[in-house]
Amino acid sequence: MTYRATLNGKVALVTGGSRGIGAATAVRLAREGADVALTFVNDKAAADDVVRAVEALGRRAVALRADAGDPDEAAGAVERAVQALGSLDVLVNNAGVGVLGPLETLSLSDIDRVLAVNVRGVLLTSRAAVARMADGGRIVVVGSCMTQRVPGPGGTLYATGKSALIGLTKALARELGGRGITVNIVHPGPIDTDMNPADGPYAADQSALTALGRFGTADEVASTVAHLAGASYITGAEFAVDGGHAA
Ligand SMILES: NC(=O)c1ccc[n+]([C@@H]2O[C@H](COP(=O)([O-])OP(=O)(O)OC[C@H]3O[C@@H](n4cnc5c(N)ncnc54)[C@H](OP(=O)(O)O)[C@@H]3O)[C@@H](O)[C@H]2O)c1
Repeated sequence: MTYRATLNGKVALVTGGSRGIGAATAVRLAREGADVALTFVNDKAAADDVVRAVEALGRRAVALRADAGDPDEAAGAVERAVQALGSLDVLVNNAGVGVLGPLETLSLSDIDRVLAVNVRGVLLTSRAAVARMADGGRIVVVGSCMTQRVPGPGGTLYATGKSALIGLTKALARELGGRGITVNIVHPGPIDTDMNPADGPYAADQSALTALGRFGTADEVASTVAHLAGASYITGAEFAVDGGHAA
């Protein structure tokens, strides 16, 4: 029996697709048959590597410098993706930043930056995407295990922003259900990326908090994102890909 790709002929936009979970997702969506636009801010070389990896799979790709924390760029990435690839079927809101520390140590600019990238950017990119998407489109949001269980101090700002995305996901699923557009959220546990390396100073503690006793890989998150990008009867739902962090 031959394997049938689930996203043949579809176009996806992955925010923060140059590294980590976003890069793995871009390649995974391409393996399923999608052409992929990805955004980045700083690491153009990494973004270009992902473009080449997608093209090596026979799909089209484009890397767009677009800061999710900037309102015009967050929304504008959608139009640029459509211009480059012709349409938009799947949006993966992955770009995110983490600023950890006790609340009293965080500056106003820390608070504004995290909420601008992790919340407002998702809202604005999603709004622009649904204006361009055909009915039957897919939106996947990358949340965090910190929305399900906060195992210690220092995560208040990050958990606040990521928890807002659960409300966004459920409310938007209701708003868009009539158009057959699904909206779901994936909550990664500790995943080995530049943001949270598996050999970092807090890695052993994070592994111990999971039932499986280890970090996950970006590919393990990407496979669930890709599944949701192809699924037709799942919407407004939360998925933990966290090794049992919330168990
Ligand atoms: N790793 C974990 O343990 C973990 C756990 C739970 C949730 N998450 C969430 O998963 C998502 C991806 O995390 P990751 O671990 O893959 O992070 P990462 O390794 O730090 O990669 C972040 C990616 O997002 C891009 N990015 C950062 N700020 C951006 C902005 N303002 N606008 C557009 N793109 C931006 C980066 O682009 P440049 O290359 O240009 O910097 C990079 O491609 C985030 O939302 C994060 O909160 C991660």
